[in-house]
Amino acid sequence: MILSHIVAVSENGVIGKNNQLLWHFSEDLTYFKKRTTGKIMIMGRKTYDSIGKPLPKRFHIVVSRESHSSSPENVQYVSSLQEAYTVAEKLISSGGWPEEVMIVGGGQIYKDTLPDTNFIYITRIPGHFDGDTYYDLKLPADFGIAFSQFSEAHPGLRYEIWSKAQTLAD
Ligand SMILES: NC(=O)c1ccc[n+]([C@@H]2O[C@H](COP(=O)([O-])OP(=O)(O)OC[C@H]3O[C@@H](n4cnc5c(N)ncnc54)[C@H](OP(=O)(O)O)[C@@H]3O)[C@@H](O)[C@H]2O)c1
Repeated sequence: MILSHIVAVSENGVIGKNNQLLWHFSEDLTYFKKRTTGKIMIMGRKTYDSIGKPLPKRFHIVVSRESHSSSPENVQYVSSLQEAYTVAEKLISSGGWPEEVMIVGGGQIYKDTLPDTNFIYITRIPGHFDGDTYYDLKLPADFGIAFSQFSEAHPGLRYEIWSKAQTLAD
């Protein structure tokens, strides 16, 4: 299993406020769709609630301490990150899902999964925002930038891919 963060983050590290995003760039939503379609996604319960419904052609593993008696198709609640990893491994072994599992937030889940993460897809959002949820922009020293490209449509918006050195060496 390969774990990848995908996150859109402002210059001051903000990723959201009041359980919502603070910006709307359709190009970035298209990028998110391209990077996640066909894959397993792991997310916190608040992020799942903010999305509002299962996204097509993706498997949603939702981490929550509450018990959830039922869930829609392609959604599974788990009670810990360890259980999320186990469920993802089983889905991959069953042959239906690729090795790359996307961690799609929010703040707590990004923080707790960073040590296990191999790739980070960052969309750099221009500007400073007043938010309540953050992504730590001081990436660990063993991550190096593998790709960087400005958006053609939105000046200042930039897509980056960071990779853990060990992942490249493996
Ligand atoms: N800009 C971006 O790319 C991006 C991406 C995703 C999200 N966001 C934003 O981030 C914000 C949401 O992030 P958040 O940090 O507030 O919430 P979150 O990480 O999405 O969800 C937090 C919830 O996940 C569950 N949880 C977290 N750690 C757990 C653990 N170790 N074991 C079991 N359950 C655990 C708990 O659910 P229960 O309360 O059910 O127990 C907790 O309340 C929103 O504003 C959203 O828009 C931004």
